[in-house]
Amino acid sequence: MRLPFSAILALLAGYSKAIQPDAVRAYEAPLRELPWGKVNFLHTTDVHGWLAGHLQEPSFSADWGDYISFAHHLRAKADADGSDLLLVDTGDRIEGNGLYDGSDPKGKYYFDIFKNQDIDLMSIGNHELYKANSSIDELHQTVPNYKNSYIASNLDIIDPDRGTREPLAQRYRKFTTKNQKLRILSFGFLFDFTGNANNTFVQPIEEAIKEDWFREALSDKEVDLIVVIGHVGIRMTEYKVIYQAIRDAHWDTPIAFFGGHVHVRDYTTYDKSAVAIASGRYMETVGFLSIDGIEAGKTKSKVFPKFARRYIDKNLFSFHQHTGLNKTTFPTELGRNVSKAIAKARSTLKLNEKYGCAPAALFVNRAPYPSDNSIFSWLADHVLPAQIGKASRVRSKGKKTLIITNTGAMRFDIFEGPFTKDTEFLVSPFTSEFRYVPEIPVKVAARVLDLLNSKGPILEAMGSDGAALKEWMVVPPEQIGGIMAEQSGFAQTEEMRVSTGAQQVLGTSKKPDLKPGYTTKDDAGTDGDDTEHSRIDFYNVPNCIQATVGIKLPLDPNDDSTVDLVYNEFVESWIVLALQYLGLKTTVADTKPYMEGKTVTNLITDWIEEHWKCK
Ligand SMILES: *[C@@H]1O[C@H](CO)[C@@H](O)[C@H](O)[C@H]1NC(C)=O
Ligand SMILES: *[C@@H]1O[C@H](CO)[C@@H](O)[C@H](O)[C@H]1NC(C)=O
Ligand SMILES: *[C@@H]1O[C@H](CO)[C@@H](O)[C@H](O)[C@H]1NC(C)=O
Ligand SMILES: *[C@@H]1O[C@H](CO)[C@@H](O)[C@H](O)[C@H]1NC(C)=O
Repeated sequence: MRLPFSAILALLAGYSKAIQPDAVRAYEAPLRELPWGKVNFLHTTDVHGWLAGHLQEPSFSADWGDYISFAHHLRAKADADGSDLLLVDTGDRIEGNGLYDGSDPKGKYYFDIFKNQDIDLMSIGNHELYKANSSIDELHQTVPNYKNSYIASNLDIIDPDRGTREPLAQRYRKFTTKNQKLRILSFGFLFDFTGNANNTFVQPIEEAIKEDWFREALSDKEVDLIVVIGHVGIRMTEYKVIYQAIRDAHWDTPIAFFGGHVHVRDYTTYDKSAVAIASGRYMETVGFLSIDGIEAGKTKSKVFPKFARRYIDKNLFSFHQHTGLNKTTFPTELGRNVSKAIAKARSTLKLNEKYGCAPAALFVNRAPYPSDNSIFSWLADHVLPAQIGKASRVRSKGKKTLIITNTGAMRFDIFEGPFTKDTEFLVSPFTSEFRYVPEIPVKVAARVLDLLNSKGPILEAMGSDGAALKEWMVVPPEQIGGIMAEQSGFAQTEEMRVSTGAQQVLGTSKKPDLKPGYTTKDDAGTDGDDTEHSRIDFYNVPNCIQATVGIKLPLDPNDDSTVDLVYNEFVESWIVLALQYLGLKTTVADTKPYMEGKTVTNLITDWIEEHWKCK
């Protein structure tokens, strides 16, 4: 029976014990049931290393082992009622969590834990490609672990042993489902990414769809369902192009798109037989999509398929409720083993080692900037001045200093309580160090931040040599979705429109007794989340923030003295362009390392060790 909404009474007491020993317990909450259908999908994306789950957040505290148990029970349900279940993962599996980043080499324990989940369709993300060695890990580990499932429709790699350029994996996959024998044609794409190391080649989507293999794959009319998975935002131009190319060959075959990259829960309809879902980030969400009305061999059905979606909060309460099981009956032996393997790796990597204890939460996008709860106010008012103030140039020469960093350097919130080695990787996994341009006139320095933060003609002018500062390059990824949608022409949801406006607050309608969490509004409505939550406000933050040592903000445009302009290396090209735009002759050759070996992350942990003692 399919209920659009049903508040399940939480009579079972056994859901609460999360599997990672130090994770917080899930809480009871009103749940919407899974709209189970004939073809069902579970979708993860942008996992970024979070196989241990979110130890400090009840809504997301289940781990990869629990997800393995969950999928096992739903497969059994599909086998029992003759439906099918397929698992999808759309890339950015690595970088952003100590379980991956904390080992040397990175990912030492990761792949052997990850591979225990049986995944039917898999594709690559941009994060697997920044470094040559991480893409080689894909070639040597993930692709062989998922030989049948991994699809690389537009990605080649140079095989380091043979020295030859080859597709990373099969270009497409045709298979029939286990129970209904539905014939599925599937593709796995990456958006038109250009920041990859030189051992991989991302073929732009416009070119990929002209390849012979793509046309041949689509010339097969004996297909019941086309599944496009990819590390692509579902409102980005790339998916529009693929959709149109498929529709040119298959005017009415049902298509399901699974997207990622922009870290949002989202769902939209391309036409009556084609939909797209995006399933969040960091193992907070398991996306669920079901399709009814497709029959094997009946490609010319007169009825349109029926699609339904749900975003599952990844915790044991949800998992137990959706499977009808409890603490004793839910975990499978494999699930338990994997949870144990995660705990063991975390302990070997000492991820629970404390640097200090946060007295209160600090947020990336859940608090306005500036404000007491903004992670950026904390950085600008406390961490950066204190730590940059220790640089030898400031100490010995008393140099007045202006510091600029991009907000995208902070990836995740800090919660009240222990700040561990693990937290460090979550909050700021980047390795960019500080550099500076010495002795910039204060009256020039005073204008740099505004230039980096304003939109329109100034930034475009700066980009005359091809290095335009695009907002999406420097802000937290959660802000990217709306920006991309603006450019693609795909309709935006209300939520995305609102959140792309600067510093706009979404409505605050707090229902009593609901806990704060996702309140997704997508093109199918407001009933997508499995768990009913009260709304969390989301605030856009500027591209960059600034702090000073030895001189007060705002800088005085009539001040005739100079400052050292310090910045994190990531924004160097834009800083230099801004200085040129403001009339200086600065080039990259004028920049120098500052506090060598120290990253933003190091400054943060040094500060925390000194200031946030645990009680
Ligand atoms: C879990 O479910 C099983 C089977 O329905 C039941 O026997 C058992 O008592 C339940 N355990 C808990 C802790 O609720
Ligand atoms: C890649 O190489 C760097 C530098 O040697 C190392 O720190 C890192 O752990 C390596 N990463 C992977 C995924 O092997
Ligand atoms: C690729 O990059 C590496 C490291 O930056 C460099 O040593 C190598 O020469 C480059 N290869 C090509 C073909 O450009
Ligand atoms: C779980 O781990 C135990 C002990 O290492 C092993 O004997 C068992 O085969 C494993 N079970 C599964 C399903 O992997």
